[in-house]
Amino acid sequence: MESKVHVLVIPYPVQGHINPMLQFSKRLVSKGVKVTLLTISFEECLRDKHAGSVAVQTIADDQQEKNRSMEDRLINFPDLLSQKLPEIIVKQRNHGYPVSCLVYDALLPRVLEIAKQQGLLGASFSTQSCAVGTIYSSVYEGKLRMPVEAPSVLLPGLPPLFVCDLPSFVSDLENNYPDALELLTGQFSNVEKADWIFFNTFNSLEKQVMNWMARKWPIKPVGPTIPSMFLDKRLEDDRDYGLSLFKPNSDACLKWLDSKRPSSVVYISFGSLLALREDQVAELAWGLKRSNTCFLWVVRESEIKKLPNNFVEETIEMGLVVTWSPQLEVLAHKSVGCFLTHCGWNSILEALSLGVPMVAMPQWSDQPTNAKFVTDVWQVGVKVKADEYGIVTKEEIERCVREVMEGEKGNEIRKNSEKWKKLACMAVDEGGKSDKNIEEFVTKLVCSSN
Ligand code: UDX
Repeated sequence: MESKVHVLVIPYPVQGHINPMLQFSKRLVSKGVKVTLLTISFEECLRDKHAGSVAVQTIADDQQEKNRSMEDRLINFPDLLSQKLPEIIVKQRNHGYPVSCLVYDALLPRVLEIAKQQGLLGASFSTQSCAVGTIYSSVYEGKLRMPVEAPSVLLPGLPPLFVCDLPSFVSDLENNYPDALELLTGQFSNVEKADWIFFNTFNSLEKQVMNWMARKWPIKPVGPTIPSMFLDKRLEDDRDYGLSLFKPNSDACLKWLDSKRPSSVVYISFGSLLALREDQVAELAWGLKRSNTCFLWVVRESEIKKLPNNFVEETIEMGLVVTWSPQLEVLAHKSVGCFLTHCGWNSILEALSLGVPMVAMPQWSDQPTNAKFVTDVWQVGVKVKADEYGIVTKEEIERCVREVMEGEKGNEIRKNSEKWKKLACMAVDEGGKSDKNIEEFVTKLVCSSN
């Protein structure tokens, strides 16, 4: 019989949600909690099954699930959870590991209903910024009406935002995905019933907007959820994220970086989901070449055919293209001087935590809002401007990379990046606000299970 408090952690099963929730789980384990992370069975695509101190349970696949495409399995995940979760909780109880709390991805609000039916505590976990959460909550509550007609909007706790700074699902109705907007605003459908509301952010980073949101809901920042070895260095098993859907070319990346001068490399990645237009890939490629700066570029396997003919051969002296990188180790490497990023929330937190200046090239979802904060609020990067056809030209790529790597502004940005690196570390280090919030959560769990 196990006497520890047992928590089930349930991320939406995509890389950008698994990573932060797995790291949060590790922090819980380090404070004496037993954690089981629940996910779909990725048999065919999980490249790294390692989850360190966290137990992983996959939801058993029946034949019907196995026959679906990966995309359909992701869409079906909330329904599958609703079906299977009650029996998983009962089984854990019968095996002597009763679960006392479900920590669920904010995009899976139905899990809270299941927690309550089973007499368990429920904690929502947002993998996006609090600023973005505020925008979606304003849409959900009808305070931000769509289509947004004014050129800019003023929402509590946030700087004035132009329409182009809003998440794409709110600003761009022509290319809208109503299902995605419903999923994202749906996180506020029952949030007032959650026992805890966690955000992967930190207090000093989003102070104003968190203060405002905290008047309505008891939100708690618990980030940045970066492996401890890159921040406070208090946990031992944290060398990388683990549970990876992609296989990194680690040796090749790190060896190549070792051969470069300090702060001389621009690292480029667009995260785990995004697909760029082929003409955009070409402009980016030639822009990198024109910038005359060494580059390490992640082009996922599904995107590699979009690279211009001969590009790799023509730039062999200055660049390395890989299909997946050990991103944290890359950002922590002394040779990296700049991160050209799509502004996924994890990438932003990682760059901030490791003090790497950014060129922001947001595409959709929460990325435009994240980019606005990178450039105008935290002042740790510059943002590319697209032309009238929505393309960021090679000249613009060159200009932005040079501005961060060589320009006057680059110096200012580097200073600011160093400041945020310290603040990020302080948040999760012993006694920091995020650390205290995790500690408090654990204490309350222990008290309520006694
Ligand atoms: C998406 C959204 O963009 C994000 O804002 C949301 O909250 C979560 O889902 P994604 O587009 O994949 O995620 O980007 P990001 O949030 O940056 O997450 C990507 C993760 O993959 C990061 O943790 C990054 O370190 C990792 N990564 C990426 C690698 O380990 N290697 C790579 O080569 C590229």
